[in-house]
Amino acid sequence: MTNKRVVLASRPVGPVSESNFRVEEAPAAKPADGEVLVRNLWLSLDPYMRGRMSDAKSYVKGVDIGEVMVGQTVGEVVESRHPKLNVGDTVLTQLGWQLYGATREAMKVDTSRAPASYYLGLLGMPGLTAYFGLKELGQPKPGETVVVSAASGAVGSVVGQLAKLWGCRAVGIAGGREKCAYVKDELGFDACVDYKGGALRDDVNAACPKGVDVYFDNVGGEILDLLLTRLNLFGRIVVCGSISDYNSTEPYRVRNWRAILVNRLRVQGMIVFDWKDRYGEALKALGGYFAEGKLNYRESVVQGLENAPRGLIDLLGGRNFGKQLVKLG
Ligand SMILES: NC(=O)c1ccc[n+]([C@@H]2O[C@H](COP(=O)([O-])OP(=O)(O)OC[C@H]3O[C@@H](n4cnc5c(N)ncnc54)[C@H](OP(=O)(O)O)[C@@H]3O)[C@@H](O)[C@H]2O)c1
Repeated sequence: MTNKRVVLASRPVGPVSESNFRVEEAPAAKPADGEVLVRNLWLSLDPYMRGRMSDAKSYVKGVDIGEVMVGQTVGEVVESRHPKLNVGDTVLTQLGWQLYGATREAMKVDTSRAPASYYLGLLGMPGLTAYFGLKELGQPKPGETVVVSAASGAVGSVVGQLAKLWGCRAVGIAGGREKCAYVKDELGFDACVDYKGGALRDDVNAACPKGVDVYFDNVGGEILDLLLTRLNLFGRIVVCGSISDYNSTEPYRVRNWRAILVNRLRVQGMIVFDWKDRYGEALKALGGYFAEGKLNYRESVVQGLENAPRGLIDLLGGRNFGKQLVKLG
């Protein structure tokens, strides 16, 4: 059996380009005792992958040159030497950008509850990030105003919908009229501000007449800088991501730091796997809301492994609409 895989060919300086990747073919791995051989069906593309292409110090080591790009996949077990998994099971793995892989770390997913791809999004890492970031760090109370950036995306769309379910006013920030219409009309946020509309400050003020109690920050940069000045006394900022900076060679320098002092804000960074012992709790809650029709969700799908580099470039440039995936095979 032949495997196809995408490896890191070079490290980008500034924006990612397709030449940073190389597609290779090699024989598929043989599963060792305790492992399964998986044919990957879906590959998740996520902003963190930009960080893994770099060798700068981070919370996880980067991908080495020549190594398969990291990533979560959902696939089908085609051979099993695992005590609990059988041929035909659908599993979530960390096999990365390749068609086949052998692993012992595979979690069976229930495709009768939700489509297989949802375990990479709404019922996967992005959904968990939204749940724990908002609940544990944002600590929203009914009646408060929660603002989230990248609001139409995998994490942001869940944050705003949870904020509504938990009794808050949910305000999104997204790029462009079409995304904002989706955030309001289909996801049910109370308002959505188009940050590309040229009037960010006025539009945020209009959307948040009582100020902002929780800002769930997915983007950093100028949007974070403005929001710092809109937070109410004892407001909370959940620092989840800073995608506006991922491709830049010079980090954005925040000007409104003093607002943290003046308004006694709590600003806390988060990494989803800090809650790995409690994933079951979040999946139960998210799965329950989904089964009750209370969570809306959208996917952007790129076809074929060889198009994964283009998919990541588009994601980092905001050309995705909802959770970005690659359909393999
Ligand atoms: N800390 C954690 O554990 C954790 C886990 C998962 C994700 N994250 C972070 O959460 C954020 C969202 O991730 P996701 O997977 O849900 O991605 P996503 O929102 O589905 O896609 C990324 C979105 O970011 C927005 N964006 C790109 N460049 C931007 C810019 N310069 N300014 C403002 N917005 C920009 C784009 O939306 P617009 O068109 O609206 O600009 C784009 O669609 C990322 O920062 C990611 O790194 C963190």
